[in-house]
Amino acid sequence: MTDQTASPRRFAASVPLKGNIAIPGDKSISHRSLMLSALAVGESRVTGLLEGHDVLATAAAMRAMGATIERRDDGEWRIHGVGVGGLLQPREALDMGNSGTSTRLLMGLVASHPITATFVGDASLSGRPMGRVIDPLSQMGADISSSPGGRLPLMVRGLSPAIPLSYRLPMASAQVKSAVLLAGLNTPGITEVIEPVPTRDHSERMLRGFGAELTVETDQRGTRHIRIRGEAELKPQTIVVPGDPSSAAFFIVAALVVPGSDVTIANVGLNPTRAGLVEVLQQMGGDIELLDPREVGGEPVADLRVRHSILRGIAVDPAVAPSMIDEFPVLFVAAALAEGRTITTGLDELRVKESDRLAVMATGLTAIGVRVEESEDGLVIHGTGGDPLPGGATIAGHLDHRICMSFAIAGLVSTAPVEIDDMAPVATSFPNFEALLVSLQQ
Ligand code: S3P
Repeated sequence: MTDQTASPRRFAASVPLKGNIAIPGDKSISHRSLMLSALAVGESRVTGLLEGHDVLATAAAMRAMGATIERRDDGEWRIHGVGVGGLLQPREALDMGNSGTSTRLLMGLVASHPITATFVGDASLSGRPMGRVIDPLSQMGADISSSPGGRLPLMVRGLSPAIPLSYRLPMASAQVKSAVLLAGLNTPGITEVIEPVPTRDHSERMLRGFGAELTVETDQRGTRHIRIRGEAELKPQTIVVPGDPSSAAFFIVAALVVPGSDVTIANVGLNPTRAGLVEVLQQMGGDIELLDPREVGGEPVADLRVRHSILRGIAVDPAVAPSMIDEFPVLFVAAALAEGRTITTGLDELRVKESDRLAVMATGLTAIGVRVEESEDGLVIHGTGGDPLPGGATIAGHLDHRICMSFAIAGLVSTAPVEIDDMAPVATSFPNFEALLVSLQQ
């Protein structure tokens, strides 16, 4: 899955960005579409699937465990599922590439099936903590042996029937929540996840859409109690995947910071558990207009018209962090162009993403002339008030697609070009990122 050839690129001061683009399908929903379709009985159809390396790793893994997955020439994907309980033992190690979502959610699926699977990944993924899923899945009866520190490569020996669990999430993580719910799918009785801080709810929406018995109760404290009845029978679905707000984020910020820009981004998913960035940028004075709000595949979407704006630094409410957890790297770039200081806190989870995003962003922004202070759980960024950044440095992307794309956007507003050491990781989530950028520069 991993591209071994480095692709360095330079991004230089840009002409105004103008025009209309459509961004690729949502990564979280694409993974779940393949996994749940592969567990339904019969044929599901998926359009708008993100065809990035992460999602293709999920497709390959589900094939290795018995599902039939084909892409038609018109871009529609057809998936014949094996039924809950019907996953087969993969013959080789499952190569998860760079994808934490594939790894953690598939560990959940394997945990309650009578199969054994080995998970391997690239250098970035092999440094990420898996203890957060190993703990609950072991409590459900899976036997998991990992590399030191709860890392990949690791092996999951599933137990069937598994033991139902009531699990309180120790951190705000949709991947951990989903791993437990997916393990619960093939577990007798009720499996419960208690979620004190709400995170993206695609698993809940889609499990229900596929016919699983799943309830969500929110108590007085705002804690969500999500319960799934196991040994479910999933019914095949026709799914339209909305555009990924986490990919749209790069073009939203680009249009806000490049003077003279006016860009419309079609079909952007705006599920409230994902839409924090739009809210925060609007608070900073960003001109973002929501056009034609509607529903696609059970998710709220709209077209976004974004125009160049003078942004003002703010203290970002840490409560919105889970709804924009993947968007902080590019928010930091927006903050670097804002008037005054932008203060962020409560972001410890950013340290265990594809890279340590607080450290890597602080180092990279400093290298291109931005004043940044790094704390344990956030960054304080002193913006230029709209003046170009000095630029003129080479940024190490650390195999992290969102770091690479964030600094590409910074290059568009820098006096001297910004070089990214390797743009290849961008293909994990946004293969046509550079092509779309060029299309807006015509
Ligand atoms: C995801 C959950 C988030 C997010 C990741 C996708 C998902 O991870 O960062 O890109 O699809 O469930 P965490 O659960 O680690 O916060």
